[in-house]
Amino acid sequence: MTSHAFAKINLSLRVLTIRPGGYHELRTIFQSIQLHDTLTIRRARGPFRLACSEPACPTDRRNLVWRAAGAMWRASGHAGSPRDLAIHITKRIPMAAGLGGGSSDAAAALRALAKMWRVDARRLPDIAAALGADVPYFLEGGTVLGLGRGDVLYPLVDAPRSWVALVLPAFGISTKDAFAWFDRDGPVARRPPDAFARDTGNDLQPPVARRHPEIARIVSALRRVGASQASMTGSGSTVFGLFPSRAAAARGVANLPDRIRQVSTVVITRTATRAECRRLAAK
Ligand code: C5P
Repeated sequence: MTSHAFAKINLSLRVLTIRPGGYHELRTIFQSIQLHDTLTIRRARGPFRLACSEPACPTDRRNLVWRAAGAMWRASGHAGSPRDLAIHITKRIPMAAGLGGGSSDAAAALRALAKMWRVDARRLPDIAAALGADVPYFLEGGTVLGLGRGDVLYPLVDAPRSWVALVLPAFGISTKDAFAWFDRDGPVARRPPDAFARDTGNDLQPPVARRHPEIARIVSALRRVGASQASMTGSGSTVFGLFPSRAAAARGVANLPDRIRQVSTVVITRTATRAECRRLAAK
């Protein structure tokens, strides 16, 4: 069985309050993009094996796919650790980049294993939420409003198709750090009151850009070369710019200053609708 695990960007991300468990209450708009990992899931005798094309990607319980397999094993009525299963991840979504790659891989594994091990799909959202705040979104795909930890979901009409230039700096950022920096910076990093009325922008961007000024430089450069919207996605480090066509995105990227292009990786992709995400999910 193969399953495509699409990346996401956050078209907007507002941090509202801190919740008792230390998590932050969010209001975010998720958007799927065509950049994806591919999971190959097959039965194979013996203990569960996880492999990944990217050597830096952990293949033990630090990987959310590993934990997804454990959760589904238990949900299908088994005890102990999963067996007779091999999953290979072809990794294209950069890690620690704010693109949700690990969470999307986990959601793809949940969907595939629900079919393989006959677990009722209605149980998946709860299993997904226990794995990580972003995992439930990836069961849905497309344009979705996320509240709560980002796991209370309201599917929206698909946003108009856009071409997306992703600019990935050489460094990654841990989600935990980004939220901790947001808390530490206090009101200086908080949005102006009118931000509630705006549907773009990322409240994690100022605290991250304070520690990594390159982020702010990339956002400004993308705007200068014609992006209709440019912002960090999630907790970074990726910055995205939206363009009306592939040609405009390619032109914009070509016009980025050399000093940005030399130290970052650029990927051009486009938004993916909910139907496109579903079509390429586990069959
Ligand atoms: O849920 P996930 O494992 O992706 O989150 C990683 C970390 O990011 C959490 O441990 C928490 O510190 C922070 N986080 C948060 N509020 C959210 C989502 C994540 O504080 N809504």
